[in-house]
Amino acid sequence: MKEIMDVKLGTRTADLREYKADMLAVGLYCDAKGLDKLTKGLDRKLKGAIDRLIRLGDFKGKDGTGAVVYGNAKIGAKRVLLVGLGEKKKVTLDTIRKASAYAAKQSVEMKAKTLGLALHSAFGARFDPAAMGQACAEGTCFGSYRYDEFVTGNGNGRLGSLKVELIDSYTARTKELKKGVLKGAIVGKAQNYARTIANRPANVIYPATLAAEAKKLARGSSTLKCTVFDERQMIEKGMGGVLAVGSGSEHRPKFIVLKHTPAGKTGRTEAKIALVGKAITFDSGGISLKPAPNMEEMKFDKSGGIAVLATMKAVAELGLPIGVYGIIPSAENVPSGTSYRPGDIITTYSGKTVEVQNTDAEGRMILCDGLSYAVRQKCETVIDVATLTGACLVALGRYMAGLMGNDDKLIKQLQKASQQSGEKVWHLPSGEEYAKEMKSKIADLKNIGSRWGGACTAAAFLRQFIGDAKWAHLDIAGVDVFQKPTEFSAEGSTGFGVRLLTTYLANLAAAKD
Ligand code: BES
Ligand code: MN
Ligand code: ZN
Repeated sequence: MKEIMDVKLGTRTADLREYKADMLAVGLYCDAKGLDKLTKGLDRKLKGAIDRLIRLGDFKGKDGTGAVVYGNAKIGAKRVLLVGLGEKKKVTLDTIRKASAYAAKQSVEMKAKTLGLALHSAFGARFDPAAMGQACAEGTCFGSYRYDEFVTGNGNGRLGSLKVELIDSYTARTKELKKGVLKGAIVGKAQNYARTIANRPANVIYPATLAAEAKKLARGSSTLKCTVFDERQMIEKGMGGVLAVGSGSEHRPKFIVLKHTPAGKTGRTEAKIALVGKAITFDSGGISLKPAPNMEEMKFDKSGGIAVLATMKAVAELGLPIGVYGIIPSAENVPSGTSYRPGDIITTYSGKTVEVQNTDAEGRMILCDGLSYAVRQKCETVIDVATLTGACLVALGRYMAGLMGNDDKLIKQLQKASQQSGEKVWHLPSGEEYAKEMKSKIADLKNIGSRWGGACTAAAFLRQFIGDAKWAHLDIAGVDVFQKPTEFSAEGSTGFGVRLLTTYLANLAAAKD
């Protein structure tokens, strides 16, 4: 796939005052007393232009804000972008990531070809330079992204590429930054890859084309293998959940399996971890049809599966020394004469039977087969990602994903990865009380609970398919898309989950080494 925005990331040891670029970004706190040493050096050359702008009150250093000062040939850069970092004591790695995203977004909007980032210097020794380099690279990728693949002609006239360099005056620190930049570029680009596939509409991405994309990804990698089960193979295996949901569409369902096996040392590297992602390429609700308003957003119902696809890309490119499965059941949920119906009883891949009470609760019907597949591959840890319930959106809003699970350690590991990656999660329950609601009188389970706690009952349903494995579930309904542009991002798919899952796996790999 041609990248929608080609971001070239690097590092350079240079004097800020002499560095040549269309844009040079420096960070400032809202509660700082005066300029720091580096910015002061720049400002001296600029004859106090930065200081005057701040005194005028045109820039206060609040996060998500910025101001441009022109270089006027007094320094190497054509423009200096002051980027607000907010309060000094509230700073996290995500502050750097967001500031980088803001700088990249402004640069693309102003059609800058080159951007120098000196944002990390405001953070001094608070973070490890490699971690800062990674956050800067991830943020830059995130902020420069926009989706205009199907806009013909010159579109909005934006440039197709952006060259970005992290600048530091010490060679030793530049080296450390570079280590992080290399990783951050892989993760950031994988996330943008996810955003592009997720942004594509349902007439372009349906189970077969999604499977072709997974195959293509595996072809380009020496550690990834891709197997796709078609309908006939799913019938043989008895994957009744995926088959039922996919039964109404001309676009037949697919069961996509990616496997990352790192080079060398087998045994230890045999895949014991599985990521399972919901890939409903369009969710109309099926026979239990959704109302028309905003139904177009249901093209994003494949976001969980795509987060898994893109995480596998990142895992392979990072060369993580752990085996990982990426399992992506995919179907289109539409009504027709062949669709599954409310009242149907479906035998799932696990052998458990499910009474369908609402065909719009389709995510759990395909995920349960995905979870069973992971269990049959003897995976010890299984994490699923899905735009599963509107109830999760009601509970948490668009700021964080719901996190459920059956293992405290796994929950903690994911919470830690969440803090590092800036993709927020909130732990919700999914135990006995909720499981009780999912019992059917005429089958083992039914696919909906009562009106209340819908995110928790959905998770409790999934929990029935996991056996003794350690399991976590991420309900990403709501965080998978920005309905409007933000200070840090274009609208559309967010690629949520790619940074979180990659960070979790990288942490795990580092602990094993
Ligand atoms: N894909 C939807 C959930 C969703 C809703 C995602 C809004 C993003 C935004 C899911 O398949 C669904 O329809 N869930 C139903 C479940 C209900 C029938 C128990 C829901 O949340 O209404
Ligand atoms: Mn649905
Ligand atoms: Zn759905």
